[in-house]
Amino acid sequence: MSLFSRKKSLDLLLAQAGDSEKGLKRTLGAGNLVALGIGAIIGAGLFVRTAAAAGQAAGPAVTISFIIAAVGCAFAGLCYAEFAAMIPISGSAYAYSYVTMGETIAWIIGWALIMEYALGAATVSIAWSEYLNKLLGGAVPYEWCHSPFESFTDSAGVLHQGIMNAPALVILLLLTLLLIKGTQESAMVNAIIVFIKVAIVILFIVVGWQFIKPENHTPYMIPEGTKPVVDAAGVELVNYDGFFKHGLGGVLGGAAIVFFAFIGFDAVSTAAQEAKNPKRDMPIGILGSLVVCTILYILFGHVLTGVANWQEFVDPEKGREASVAYAISNYMKGYEWLATAVTVAILAGFSSVILVMLMGQSRIFYSMSNDGLIPKAFGELHPKFQTPYKANLILFVFVGAFAAFVPGHVAGDLTSFGTLFAFVLVSLGVWIMRRENPDMPRPFKTPLVPVVPILGAVICLGMIAAIDQRTLKFAMVWMILGLVVYFAYSKKRSKLNS
Ligand code: ALA
Repeated sequence: MSLFSRKKSLDLLLAQAGDSEKGLKRTLGAGNLVALGIGAIIGAGLFVRTAAAAGQAAGPAVTISFIIAAVGCAFAGLCYAEFAAMIPISGSAYAYSYVTMGETIAWIIGWALIMEYALGAATVSIAWSEYLNKLLGGAVPYEWCHSPFESFTDSAGVLHQGIMNAPALVILLLLTLLLIKGTQESAMVNAIIVFIKVAIVILFIVVGWQFIKPENHTPYMIPEGTKPVVDAAGVELVNYDGFFKHGLGGVLGGAAIVFFAFIGFDAVSTAAQEAKNPKRDMPIGILGSLVVCTILYILFGHVLTGVANWQEFVDPEKGREASVAYAISNYMKGYEWLATAVTVAILAGFSSVILVMLMGQSRIFYSMSNDGLIPKAFGELHPKFQTPYKANLILFVFVGAFAAFVPGHVAGDLTSFGTLFAFVLVSLGVWIMRRENPDMPRPFKTPLVPVVPILGAVICLGMIAAIDQRTLKFAMVWMILGLVVYFAYSKKRSKLNS
């Protein structure tokens, strides 16, 4: 049997969608869906990685990086919208590919999505730890809020070596317990957090605008030949030699870094079963949340790099961590109170992103377990709380290990890899589906097929190429491990065998 011929039939998938609809009410309108998207989208990508992208690759041109990443997401988003309106089932990209490209590819996507959701949660918990420490005035020693792979020598000549990121572990544990207990964010709570997050971003843009120094925006891109940044002991923190590290290439490198900020709009597709009118509202939810966030991100990047200089975002003793709070407290005189308010709002905002990511992961596990590809335990519900508690606990151990012992930028880049990989396959999936099932009713149609899917795939592949080489090697090892698991375990146990 060829690798690609073992597919779940569309009828079976739609029947499952029908089954799982029992008990779920179609209560979400377009506005709720846009809010859901924004709730999952605005987080560490904006409040941490904008500064990282500016300091390490793009300079003030991080605004253009946002535009490039948004274009890639928009193409992929159009493809997601077609699938989400046509196949309203949880499992998202994993489920779509099971019918279009077969079980092997679906497995590969499911495995890559573990990087998106599980490592996404780890990355945001690391960012949460940074901002918490800022709020506590640096009370947590460097050693206990950084991974063992991070160290730096401060200006007094003292070497700090990370041990583990304890606060990240704590927030993950708290949110895992919350998920097990079944305390779900209601649409109301989500809406409140979204309102606070968006209000803070707009407030920062409006207030910060008057503190922009035009000289911080000149030159707009990192010039060739920029010297590496070293710490007090002469250890290199960043260099600007590679193609993706300065000039236009750096803007592309920046796009791969800030791409993380857009992750989450695809989570809207997992709510397809709860949408009142998926035909109309899925595309509005997915594309609407993308448009709102893109506009906010560009303005935010413009103000952040105008208020503080991008070079400060590489310095561990300046704005490398908790960059927004740093920019406000150092350069926006009279608005120091805003730094505290922003930090509290950011902590709340991060918590909701982590929660959605952990929930998204458990839905993917749930679908994979129902299909027989991973052990039944991942689909078992708690007798009292009716939540997939075993999956949540296993997930905590895995995500917690990453959050405690892996640097935030590595976890973040792996998250981007997993997501970009899924986007490429979903884009191609739309094209394949059009050829194989041309008559299937499509409430929303991706325009200009195959141009849009191909462009989506190409831009996402370009962003994958711009990810750090070491991270890419790690991602490859992860994907190969996935294939070993599939052929040694999952293929035999697949329900398609029975
Ligand atoms: N887009 C989400 C964030 O930036 C994952 O935190």
